[in-house]
Amino acid sequence: MHLSIFVHFSFFLAVLGVPELTVHPAKAPTAKTRNGTYVGLAVPQLSQDIFHGIPFAQAPRFELAQSLNSSWSGTHEAVEPGLTCSGYGSNNLLGLEVGEDCLNLNVVRPSGTKTNAKLPVMVWIYGGGFRQGSINDREFNTSYMVETSVQIGKPVIIVSINYRLSAFGFLFSKEVQSKGATNLGIRDQWKALEWINENIAGFGGDPKQVTVWGESAGAFSIGWLTVAYGGQNSNLFQKAIMVSGTSFGVGSGYPVFAQSTYNALTNDTGCNHAIDSLQCLRELPFETLNTTITNLPANLLGFQPILDGDILRNSPSFAYAQNPPLIAPVDIITGCNTDEGMSEALGAQTPFNTSAEVEYFLTAGLGVDSTVANEILTLYPEDAQYPPYSQPMTLDWPALTAALGIQSGTQTRRVYGIINDFAMMSGRRLTAASWTPLTGKKAYSFRWDVDPTRLPLVYTPGLGVGFAEHGAELSFEFRLPYVSGSAYPPIPDVPAMRNVSYAMQAHFVAFAATGDPNAHHLNWIPKWPAYAGSTQNFVYNATLDDTLNLHVEKDDFRSEQISWFNARWTYLN
Ligand SMILES: *[C@@H]1O[C@H](CO)[C@@H](O)[C@H](O)[C@H]1NC(C)=O
Ligand SMILES: *[C@@H]1O[C@H](CO)[C@@H](O)[C@H](O)[C@H]1NC(C)=O
Ligand SMILES: *[C@@H]1O[C@H](CO)[C@@H](O)[C@H](O)[C@H]1NC(C)=O
Ligand SMILES: *[C@@H]1O[C@H](CO)[C@@H](O)[C@H](O)[C@H]1NC(C)=O
Ligand SMILES: *[C@@H]1O[C@H](CO)[C@@H](O)[C@H](O)[C@H]1NC(C)=O
Ligand SMILES: *[C@@H]1O[C@H](CO)[C@@H](O)[C@H](O)[C@H]1NC(C)=O
Ligand SMILES: *[C@@H]1O[C@H](CO)[C@@H](O)[C@H](O)[C@H]1NC(C)=O
Ligand SMILES: *[C@@H]1O[C@H](CO)[C@@H](O)[C@H](O)[C@H]1NC(C)=O
Repeated sequence: MHLSIFVHFSFFLAVLGVPELTVHPAKAPTAKTRNGTYVGLAVPQLSQDIFHGIPFAQAPRFELAQSLNSSWSGTHEAVEPGLTCSGYGSNNLLGLEVGEDCLNLNVVRPSGTKTNAKLPVMVWIYGGGFRQGSINDREFNTSYMVETSVQIGKPVIIVSINYRLSAFGFLFSKEVQSKGATNLGIRDQWKALEWINENIAGFGGDPKQVTVWGESAGAFSIGWLTVAYGGQNSNLFQKAIMVSGTSFGVGSGYPVFAQSTYNALTNDTGCNHAIDSLQCLRELPFETLNTTITNLPANLLGFQPILDGDILRNSPSFAYAQNPPLIAPVDIITGCNTDEGMSEALGAQTPFNTSAEVEYFLTAGLGVDSTVANEILTLYPEDAQYPPYSQPMTLDWPALTAALGIQSGTQTRRVYGIINDFAMMSGRRLTAASWTPLTGKKAYSFRWDVDPTRLPLVYTPGLGVGFAEHGAELSFEFRLPYVSGSAYPPIPDVPAMRNVSYAMQAHFVAFAATGDPNAHHLNWIPKWPAYAGSTQNFVYNATLDDTLNLHVEKDDFRSEQISWFNARWTYLN
């Protein structure tokens, strides 16, 4: 099955030039790593120490990241943001400095953290369709999560890591495979986790209490990290939080398709005439390569993780089916948003008016055969309820979107519904339900059910027309007190909206610190039961008219449809 997930992801953003406060550090914080001592920034207004742009490896183009191999005495400064990895989309629009030697990380800790504090560590892995994303995107400001952690008495250190993107991170071909340089983006994440394991104690963190946490491509990355190297994660992380992504839903890449992308790249640069075409690509001027990648036809732009027989040796469905399963034994939170499938990023904003058009979309776009497409159409009949699930189907959807210049048809919401379950809801439910029986470790599941926007529709290029769509929870997840400049909708200025954001942060931090998301002592948040034994989701629901409606639900909606997908991942992935 060939889901063109993320391929449609392109942002056109208004960049806000918000000046940073100038900080005059009273006493600059330091941290000792294997290579030498770093001096960071004291940020008194947040009571935090921030270390920016610490390199964790070198990134020679189309080669494995190399450990840093020099050390120093005295100090190095970690006060300026490091390079953002070269990517395609918002990376080039946020005013960030972009370049290839981009393997650096940011560390945020409560000020006054002692070297022997052994604080739990959270590691943020951004999304962006494996083609964009940066730790310096203000949307991913980890300071407010650290602030929450201190306020609830469970202080954590948060590290956010860059990894290589697009062709730089996910070029794949027989030539690349023969050099062992596959899935560099995922290997960069692994390398960062090794650096954290070796060095985080110098910041006051505990390398034996590491929680990887990611959204979208970041969550799908974690889905891969849990089955990488046959599930042997070398104890690099003990817990995982996967938001809008799991091991299932985007597939394990297409080697044949990837080879044609490689062939186009080498042909378009003349490297196809070199004896060693990969070496030729390595030596090209950056501008030449960047232009060639930019000009690749859209159907060849889908860089993503691909099974390589090495770090990604098993498809997730195979890993889950083995006895014992080939899965890293870690506790997890997995969750996604009610209306994920409305996202342009997931390719579901379509103009169809007939079942025949939807069938064509499923066969041509997703690559299923017509028997399977018709089974899906039967499971998702025309007259059912579809995203946005908070809105009645009687709305004239084509007219509502036409008012924004977006084409929809009478079948548009039906397609949202199919993609919703295929890309997100099914993988979430399968992961939550399988996890404890397979690994013996805890699993918690949530559904994010907050519409930060309402009718009339609001269109955000790259995201879609609003509601609880893909990415709609991000500003809440980071509890941002400002509009970040990224495309994601900000938190509406309503108390219930601030509470729902705080509840999610309290859960994530408590989970990272103890393995139990309930260990936050906030009595206004209902208890979140483990999935095993309850089969329940925590539901984050708050409304613009200031109703806070946090509750749990039985995770049995659309049971027939979701079970259908979950019985077919060996075919679908
Ligand atoms: C530098 O740090 C890396 C990562 O922790 C480590 O693997 C390497 O051995 C260090 N090199 C030196 C020369 O200290
Ligand atoms: C350190 O790494 C760089 C880049 O990979 C390499 O050129 C250099 O030879 C290495 N130095 C040592 C002392 O190994
Ligand atoms: C988060 O934003 C605040 C306010 O702009 C800023 O002071 C702080 O440095 C940011 N934190 C990080 C980790 O960038
Ligand atoms: C190869 O590159 C040439 C231009 O250098 C272009 O005309 C041709 O269409 C390309 N062929 C393929 C298969 O990409
Ligand atoms: C690479 O190309 C993109 C267009 O796809 C452009 O926006 C970006 O600035 C280029 N990057 C660099 C570092 O020149
Ligand atoms: C949230 O809960 C309310 C009931 O309190 C419900 O009407 C609504 O559909 C739910 N979801 C959203 C996104 O508002
Ligand atoms: C479906 O109908 C709408 C008008 O309601 C129209 O804008 C759209 O182009 C039609 N879709 C197709 C695929 O013809
Ligand atoms: C919202 O959070 C505050 C604490 O910040 C709490 O006192 C209040 O009870 C919460 N509101 C609701 C409706 O639970």
